[in-house]
Amino acid sequence: MSGPAVSDRCRSVVTWTYDSFPVPDGSLDLRGDNSPPLETARLVLAGLNATAEQAAFYGPVAGEQPLREAVGRMLGLSAAQVVITAGGSEALHLALLCAADPGDTVIAPRPGFPGFDQLAVLAGLHVDHYDVPGPIPGVGHGQVRVICSPHNPTGVLVGRQDVRPGGGWTIWDVSHSAPLITSHPGAPATERDIVVFSLSKLLRLPGIRIGCLASPSAALIKAVEAVKTHMSMSASQLSQQVALGVLTSPTIQAELGARKHQVDSHRLRLQTAVSRSTALRCVEADAGTHLLISAEREADAGATLRAAGIIGLPGVVFGTDQSTVRLCTAQPAVVIDAAAHILEQQ
Ligand SMILES: Cc1ncc(COP(=O)(O)O)c(C=O)c1O
Repeated sequence: MSGPAVSDRCRSVVTWTYDSFPVPDGSLDLRGDNSPPLETARLVLAGLNATAEQAAFYGPVAGEQPLREAVGRMLGLSAAQVVITAGGSEALHLALLCAADPGDTVIAPRPGFPGFDQLAVLAGLHVDHYDVPGPIPGVGHGQVRVICSPHNPTGVLVGRQDVRPGGGWTIWDVSHSAPLITSHPGAPATERDIVVFSLSKLLRLPGIRIGCLASPSAALIKAVEAVKTHMSMSASQLSQQVALGVLTSPTIQAELGARKHQVDSHRLRLQTAVSRSTALRCVEADAGTHLLISAEREADAGATLRAAGIIGLPGVVFGTDQSTVRLCTAQPAVVIDAAAHILEQQ
């Protein structure tokens, strides 16, 4: 006997996990971030003086005030313009729900982080794509444009100077950026911008699920708070305590700076190795922790790398050519050395 059917939109959701792409014994795993946690985070978690009371109450829907202030300083916005969310994913979901109505169009990057398309479809939105690398399209009234910078999966950076303002909202997903903790170097967001950020990803603690949504638009922030009340309510207070502790620790800036330096040198190392290979090429990455590799003459880069002992995430995850493959550069140095050696021999 069959029960009621699940909704069409939920049945249409496409989901990949790392387990969808297993790593055979002896192969190098470059699917995602395998770098060790930050020492600062280890210390903060070891010294966490948590109480049951902290978990016995809901916190403010928009987040704990000191964390909103710290994140606001980082993004160049005030605490009132920041809402703390359960990871960057919830921030993205809230941004799409509050910026668009069913039937509206979202203009999203392709290749792109899978959440852009999947969450947009769940929200009843129509999705158009633009190519990355490539020019960023304009955004008219009744449209929403998503810009991911540094872009997952290519590492391409988009700045405000690359973008024409338009009548509609622009969601800036900067989840892969490594801003200075004390002040953000970018131009302040405008009334039509929504910034989505994964704070826990920056702090190499994605498991604590802390992100944020920020915007100078008071109307947008009000709507986000109202909707969030019925979704996750408040983000975990314990997780917010950890995020604030790490973010305000005296050692965090130096440690994040060192991590950025290492990831940048890994990216350069792998890009140089690809440029020396005869069979492979990659999109020129500016920042972040990803490289998108393809093969000369339409060959399958994923299959080539798999046979050579490197496992990444195939392009299908990012809604693009199955024969491309994303490599994550946030790995221990020995893994990058071994991968570079393999890449340059292809
Ligand atoms: C571009 C982008 N946005 C948002 C997210 C979601 O971040 P979180 O893990 O904090 O939910 C990710 C995760 O990988 C991402 O790559």
